[in-house]
Amino acid sequence: MVKFTGRNKLKTAVFISGTGSNLKNLIKFSLLKKSPIKIELVISDKKRARGLIISKKYNIDSKVYKYKNKKNTEKKILENLNKKKINLICLAGFMKILSSNFVKKFNGKILNIHPSLLPKYKGLNTHERAIKNNEKFSGCTVHIVNSKLDSGKIILQKKVKIRKIDTPESLSKRILIQEHKLYPRAILKIFSS
Ligand code: GRF
Repeated sequence: MVKFTGRNKLKTAVFISGTGSNLKNLIKFSLLKKSPIKIELVISDKKRARGLIISKKYNIDSKVYKYKNKKNTEKKILENLNKKKINLICLAGFMKILSSNFVKKFNGKILNIHPSLLPKYKGLNTHERAIKNNEKFSGCTVHIVNSKLDSGKIILQKKVKIRKIDTPESLSKRILIQEHKLYPRAILKIFSS
């Protein structure tokens, strides 16, 4: 097994848009000895994303991009990532879709967590749709990002049972708990063998 020390940890950027519970969880994971990642940068498309409070608390550099023009914004983000020698991107609730040009530049080095058992329920409102369709299970997936939405190679998935009384909110809460376990496990699976 590869041993990761401060020096050879992967310089990682986490992209967020909201609460940042996965961000917080990834930061905690990154501080463990066994973790292959070091989070150097947090990027948000929302000034008021609560996740930015978390990055500040942990003294991690963060930057907000307004996304007025996607092409220009991605160019600026890429410049910043190159400047910081970032070699892994973890999307964690980031609501913008990255262009195929951007994805190609980080080929295979962008991960995402999605709250469904992909390939089912790509896109938004996953819990609502799974409940409406009377699914017995939903869950979460960590996958590599490619140029199609929520479609890249699946690294790990975790099933979560849908209860009769579930609302999108209650299901989302239970799935989030599993997301926090799955993302670090997926990162370990990719980089520590
Ligand atoms: C998570 O459910 C994640 O799967 C989805 O967006 C949500 C982000 O939650 N892509 P948080 O901001 O990490 O709390």
